[in-house]
Amino acid sequence: MTQRIAVLLSGRGSNFQSLLNASAAGLLGGNIDLVISNRPGAGGLNIAHDAGIETALIDHQNYPTREAFDRDLAGVLDSRSPDLVVLAGFMRILTADFVERFAGRLLNIHPSLLPLYAGLNTHQRALDNGDTHAGATVHYVTGELDGGPPVLQARVPIEPGDDARTLAARVLAVEHQIYPVAVNWHMTGRLTLIDGTLRKDDVALPATGHLWEEPL
Ligand code: GRF
Repeated sequence: MTQRIAVLLSGRGSNFQSLLNASAAGLLGGNIDLVISNRPGAGGLNIAHDAGIETALIDHQNYPTREAFDRDLAGVLDSRSPDLVVLAGFMRILTADFVERFAGRLLNIHPSLLPLYAGLNTHQRALDNGDTHAGATVHYVTGELDGGPPVLQARVPIEPGDDARTLAARVLAVEHQIYPVAVNWHMTGRLTLIDGTLRKDDVALPATGHLWEEPL
């Protein structure tokens, strides 16, 4: 049976678009059949409409608490039984109950070389620190913000004259390469997460996740 992927997003949806492209090319190992946004104006909703994918808008502003929002979000997801829930620029912190419910089938992409720079403003923080490299990391989501086990990480150089905008663009380009690959690994059963230890093809991954190299 075709495996089902749900995507949660809040914004323009360029990572979602890269996942869609991979899906169309048969490279994702499953079908994206639901896209949920917590923001009415999210560009990612338009991408989903154009692709004929079912969408749901669950506007967090209509909820009195984070718990109430997450309960509805979980309810909509559960009604579709996704094999994987992909956070693609979903700008909400999820409650422990939600994370627990989807443990082991919840992936996020974060624009830094985790464990460096969890949270926001990652590019400016890397620049302010004088780092020579930045990057992006796909990781399983746990109760710790941006702290779950990394699956795949890509590095890019920080160039002289970079600002947060130019660096973000360089990082985004590699985000678009690595997220579909990490999703494919999950969907094709190559990743196992047992007691917090993540293995790919039965080999424990380093703390950075697998280090991405441009395919030849
Ligand atoms: C990406 O940089 C992602 O790493 C971060 O939010 C941004 C989303 O961009 N979590 P997009 O909506 O996928 O274009």
